[in-house]
Amino acid sequence: MIGRLNHVAIAVRDIAKAAQVYRDTLGAEVSAVEPQPEHGVNTVFITLPNTKIELIEPLGENSPIAKFLERNPDGGIHHICYEVSDIRSARDALKRQGARVLGDGEPKVGAHGKPVLFLHPKDFCGTLVELEQA
Ligand code: CO
Repeated sequence: MIGRLNHVAIAVRDIAKAAQVYRDTLGAEVSAVEPQPEHGVNTVFITLPNTKIELIEPLGENSPIAKFLERNPDGGIHHICYEVSDIRSARDALKRQGARVLGDGEPKVGAHGKPVLFLHPKDFCGTLVELEQA
């Protein structure tokens, strides 16, 4: 069902500082900061030869990553994103197997302009999983 690793998302308190670490210390190709108000985060995309890293920083009062950063004040890996060819059929197959889909279960347009869903970390080895339609 799952295909390529699309990205690993790292939650940070200061996205400018984090972008600088990836650009200047690690020598990666780093995008400008892109606000995603509908997701409550600012994002920076880091393009690696085989995948992407997504830096996410809270944006606004009710950011979905605020609690995560309270528990992980230095930042940390927040989720991993796998590609699927058909997000609705993947969702239906996972639900049939008892997996919990977060939110109302309907795919939303994610940071890359494609439909995404999130799966409950308790069902996936303690890791928040994002599915993105390839
Ligand atoms: Co993501």
